[in-house]
Amino acid sequence: MAFAAALIVAACAQKETALSSVSLIPMPDEVELHEGFFNLKSAPVFIQEGIAGDARCAIDGFTSQLALSSGKTPKVSDAPAKGGMNFLLNDGLSPEEYLLKVDAEGLRLEASAFNGFLYGLETLKQLLPPEFYSAGKVSARWTLPFIDIKDSPRFAYRGMHLDSSRHFWSIDEVKRYIDIMLSYKLNRFHWHLTDDQGWRVEIKRFPRLTEVGSMRKETLEGSLYADSLRFDGTPYGGFYTQDEMREVVAYAAARGITVIPEIDLPGHMVAALTAYPELGCTGGPYEVWTLWGISEDVLCPGNEKTFEFIEGVLDEICDIFPSEYIHIGGDECPKVRWAACPKCQARIRELKLRDSGGVSKEQRLQNYVTSRVQDYLASKGRKIIGWDEILEGELSEGATVMSWRGTEGGIEASARGFDAIMTPYPFLYLDYYQSRERDHEPLAIGGYLPLERVYSYEPFDGLTEGSESHILGVQANLWTEYIATPEHLEYMLLPRLLAVSEIQWCKPERKDYGRFLSSLPAQFRMLDIRGYTYHKGEAGFIGLPGAEYPVRTPEELESYLQGL
Ligand code: ACM
Ligand code: ZN
Repeated sequence: MAFAAALIVAACAQKETALSSVSLIPMPDEVELHEGFFNLKSAPVFIQEGIAGDARCAIDGFTSQLALSSGKTPKVSDAPAKGGMNFLLNDGLSPEEYLLKVDAEGLRLEASAFNGFLYGLETLKQLLPPEFYSAGKVSARWTLPFIDIKDSPRFAYRGMHLDSSRHFWSIDEVKRYIDIMLSYKLNRFHWHLTDDQGWRVEIKRFPRLTEVGSMRKETLEGSLYADSLRFDGTPYGGFYTQDEMREVVAYAAARGITVIPEIDLPGHMVAALTAYPELGCTGGPYEVWTLWGISEDVLCPGNEKTFEFIEGVLDEICDIFPSEYIHIGGDECPKVRWAACPKCQARIRELKLRDSGGVSKEQRLQNYVTSRVQDYLASKGRKIIGWDEILEGELSEGATVMSWRGTEGGIEASARGFDAIMTPYPFLYLDYYQSRERDHEPLAIGGYLPLERVYSYEPFDGLTEGSESHILGVQANLWTEYIATPEHLEYMLLPRLLAVSEIQWCKPERKDYGRFLSSLPAQFRMLDIRGYTYHKGEAGFIGLPGAEYPVRTPEELESYLQGL
């Protein structure tokens, strides 16, 4: 008995050691490692009939890349092959689920749908040496450990946001961003396309949006909070044509990612007002904003032309982006212009809006804008997402709330029966500093959000019991006021995106920060080969299991942020 028990303990210990050597992020739901390795280099490929379209393309992409890097083109087999790579349909699995088995018989990847195959392939890539990503033939051990994986995500919505207004990212840079999202099994790309500092989408009915609204005369250098503001004196701009945006939509779709466009309204609209000043309460003139603050100039909802404008823009946005959800912003909309505007006040009287229950009549006017835009999009079969400010006052059924000013918005929304996406800034704003050593970091907007703090986030914390099903998922945001180059963008994204992916994908009991850290060196080798820039950690701590660096409590962080 004692001998048998000792054997089991030894076997478990071996499994544990081996498990830490596979370095998968996000860690799959169930993983069992066995003794032995399978050599892929000369394995024939079988793809079951019925695996078609995007799934077939993804598998072909994987086998072609393997052929390129290993220097050996696999034979194609017309039946499941012993010792081969076999891709099989399994209708018993949910669309994002997959089974991966590697043993002496070869490799079997089973899924029922495109995303399941995609995620199985991403897991396979992480099991292979990082040289998989090489541009030409390299020598490496083209083997996989014997392994059994059963995997599916915790959340259906696994998002990453990108601000293309404050700084503009080329189509190629956006594609690279999407590539790395797929590597960590994210499936929603929230594209922030318009803001005070630049309008970035071509709208054919309103050409001045890009002719005028996409250019600002200069860009702030240094911090907005510096004693004296300094500007670079260089005009800055850029926009995406509709064809380019369609190209991004197709590129993302081939990677299982839905693009959710954001047209931020009724605030954050100075770039549009510069192009069409009659849409503002004062009539302008306006100038594309060069400060990183919040402008008091916003759209005038007292003017019917404003709604013609919004609907005209959304008509074209819906033509470009097939997403079920359209993000309509709704954050940070000061009400000072509306309070002084005769047209807005006339609209308030016409709608019989009143200050009541701690909600001002101007806030109720924003509720009216949200609800009217929601109805318009519903008539086109679309749903809205808005930042958590849309909860203030009244909100119509069917809206989804993105909780950013902490977790309270998501807690309130889900308790009130609205769907919510959690993106609280104290955990998921990747524009914050990731190190305490600010002198060695590029200038950031502020904050302190080290990897460990991102990792620690639990989206169900604080929810009213029974409202968990309203939490669609989790997203991190990357605002780019202080980020001007692709290298800097990637540096802020990585490796914190990896921590985000475990919040989104893993059940809480599968998360383990020590195991996560020990997987980073292998992930970093992959990022190196792919040429991504990333943050290597405070004083080199990251990657050393058990390393400690101080993390603020949520309360300490709150007061620290307020002091910035
Ligand atoms: C936001 O960060 N203003 C949504
Ligand atoms: Zn007005």
